[in-house]
Amino acid sequence: MIEKYKNRVIQGDCLEILGDIPNNSIDVTFADPPFNLNKKYKSTKDSLNLNKYLDWCKLWINEMVRITKPTGSIFLHNIPKWLTYYTAILNESAHFKHWISWDAPTSPMGKSLQPSHYGILFYTKELKKNKFYEIRYPHKRCRNCGYLHKDYGGKKKLLHPFGPLLSDVWTDIHRIKHNKYRDDHPCQLPVHLLERIILMSTDEGDIVFDPFLGTGTTALAAKRLGRNYIGVELDKEYVRISENKLAMEKSDSKIDDVWVGFFLDKIITIRDIDWEKIAPSFIIPEMITDIDHKEIMSKNGKINKGYEPQKIDFQDLPLFANAILLEKK
Ligand SMILES: C[S@@+](CC[C@H](N)C(=O)[O-])C[C@H]1O[C@@H](n2cnc3c(N)ncnc32)[C@H](O)[C@@H]1O
Repeated sequence: MIEKYKNRVIQGDCLEILGDIPNNSIDVTFADPPFNLNKKYKSTKDSLNLNKYLDWCKLWINEMVRITKPTGSIFLHNIPKWLTYYTAILNESAHFKHWISWDAPTSPMGKSLQPSHYGILFYTKELKKNKFYEIRYPHKRCRNCGYLHKDYGGKKKLLHPFGPLLSDVWTDIHRIKHNKYRDDHPCQLPVHLLERIILMSTDEGDIVFDPFLGTGTTALAAKRLGRNYIGVELDKEYVRISENKLAMEKSDSKIDDVWVGFFLDKIITIRDIDWEKIAPSFIIPEMITDIDHKEIMSKNGKINKGYEPQKIDFQDLPLFANAILLEKK
C-alpha cells in the first residue's frame, strides 16, 4: 500500500492521501500547514473562520498520529497561536516531548510584543519506544574575531570540539530572507531546518511524511540524508518545482559515511553518537581551550556539496515525471 507513494510527491488533498496510508507505517510525520493568515498560495484560500480552520486541523493532525509508527515522532510547525490549539488535539493521542522555539524574527505588529519565534511541536507516538538522537551544532562565535559568544569561564577544558548539545531553542538557522534564494512560495522553510529534525528522529532508510509539502523542503532534506519521503501538496506548480529540485538532488549529505546536515560549506548538525566516527576528519587543537577563539576545521578544507539555496523559476520547467497527479483541481 505504502510502496506506491514512497519517494513520490503527490498532488492532491492531504486528507485524501492520508486516508490511504496504513496505521503505524511512517517513521516521522512533519507538517507546516497553511497558517490561516491570508497568505497568497497559488491554489488555496488561507482564511477560514476559526472553527472551520480548527476542525480541519483536527482531521489531519489525528491522521498524522494514526499513520506514525510506535517508535515515531510527530512534528508540527506553526505560529505560537495555532500551536496552543494543536497541543490540545495532540495531547489526546500522542505524548508531548518538546515545544521547540525556532528564533526567526518578524516585523513589529504594534501594541504587542514583536513575534520572534515559530514553534515546532515535537510529539512522540509512544513515550518509551521513541527513536531520538541527541544533536550537536557548532559553537556560536563572533563573526569578526572568532571568539565564542558564550563565556565558559573555568569550564573551557570541558568544551566539546564541535559544539554544544542542542536545546529546545534554535537560534542558528535563519529563515530564507532573500527572494533570489526562495521559490515563488510565501513560506518556504530552509532545508537545513528539516535536516536537523530528520537527523534527530530517524535512521537511514526511514520514511518521512509531509502532508503540506510546499516546494519540497522536507522531501529534499530526506533525500539528501538517505531517508525515504512521501510528500503531498495541493498546488500543481509547487509539485512541479519540488519534482525538479528533487531530480537534481543526491543522497550525499555525509562526511566519512556519516549523515550530517550542511548549510553552504559548513556542517551545522551532527548526531552526538557520530562524533567519534567523524572527529578524525577534523583538525582539533592539542589544547582544547584554544577553540575559544578558533573554530575546528575539516582536514579536507571546505566541503562544498553544492547545496546553495537557489530559486527555481516557474517557467520552462520540464513536465512532471515522477509525481502522482490526482488532477482534482
Ligand atoms: C506553509 S506551506 C508549506 C511550505 C513548505 N514547508 C515549504 O517549505 O515549501 C503550506 C502548503 O500547504 C498547501 N496546502 C494547503 N491545503 C492543502 C491540502 N488540503 N492538502 C495538501 N496541501 C495543501 C499549500 O498549497 C502550501 O503550499
